[in-house]
Amino acid sequence: MTRSSDPEQRPRRLGLTRADLDALPNYVPGRSPADLARELGLTEAIKLASNEVPYGPLPGVVEAVAQAVAGVHRYPDMGVVALRATLAARYGVAADRIATGCGSVALAEHLARATCLPGDEILYSWRSFEAYPIIAATTGATSVRVPNTADHGHDLAAMAAAVTDRTRMILVCNPNNPTGTSLRRPELDRFLAAVPDDVLVVLDEAYREFVTDPDVPDGLEAYADRPNVVVLRTLSKAWGLAGLRIGFLVAHPEVAAAVRKVVTPFSTSLAAQAGALAALAQEEEVRRRCALVVAERERVTEALRKLLPDVPESQANFVWLPLGDRAAAFSAACEARGVIVRPFQGDGVRVTIGTAEENDAFLSVAETAL
Ligand SMILES: Cc1ncc(COP(=O)(O)O)c(C=O)c1O
Repeated sequence: MTRSSDPEQRPRRLGLTRADLDALPNYVPGRSPADLARELGLTEAIKLASNEVPYGPLPGVVEAVAQAVAGVHRYPDMGVVALRATLAARYGVAADRIATGCGSVALAEHLARATCLPGDEILYSWRSFEAYPIIAATTGATSVRVPNTADHGHDLAAMAAAVTDRTRMILVCNPNNPTGTSLRRPELDRFLAAVPDDVLVVLDEAYREFVTDPDVPDGLEAYADRPNVVVLRTLSKAWGLAGLRIGFLVAHPEVAAAVRKVVTPFSTSLAAQAGALAALAQEEEVRRRCALVVAERERVTEALRKLLPDVPESQANFVWLPLGDRAAAFSAACEARGVIVRPFQGDGVRVTIGTAEENDAFLSVAETAL
């Protein structure tokens, strides 16, 4: 194409990047505790904003990663063979049904890429994981949001009713981030029966390891044999590998193969593969840590309910304070006392379960701020 020298004749400038991205909110990471501590003149601040587990890396992980990085001048195994085989044995599924990625958030994006063309629809409950709208928009898909129920959970009947001919993917977050609410077996069974076979249902189970309610189904046990169901899991939370960026999915072999096609090559890094293998050998310790988180979750929920009775039951490693328009002010009050939480203005505040001391510090701030 040649450009006219007459400015009047030139086509309207479009800008270098897509104009629709202007309307897209940025993903907001939790605030840096080091920055806040410096600002407040404290030796340290407490970060309860990103749903990490507070007990440090699992035994053996640091050593395994250190050993692996001696080989960083080489590309990692692109097929992620050893890790996929270990995951397959651990979760009782065939390795060709597994794909790994740079965090499960990347896999959700790859699934969108593998299913949607521009104009297709991705359906999800709202408020839910803040990456979902970003994933839909960057794929060129249309977000269809179904409002949460009055008690902060997914409205599965309304979601099933919102499926159209353009729906390609439905994201179901169980337990839901940021509200902690969970879906039980009968309602999920009904929902899956109502969804057409050619719509992919992604069960995002990032917090599965913290679930204690026996009626909340394990997606792998309950639904992995359904060709249109994908289960997303992460090693960032219970397995303590948030900084290494590693998640995986279990899907029908054809879906898993499609994801492996669109994945950014080598995005499961050498360190992530080594760290994940070491973490997966620490099952007992993971169970012990999750039990600590769960006990603290129950204690924090009980204490918060004395201040704010409608705190919903959480099956994850965080609790939800439905503060509506008071969310930002509450979060600011916590930060002023050195505790970083995660506000969603207009809806509420999500607070990650930390160590007992961290939770005590938060509860004492909450008592004043509420
Ligand atoms: C519901 C949900 N899914 C997925 C993720 C992404 O986890 P990661 O990309 O670290 O595996 C998160 C992280 O906060 C989450 O809350």
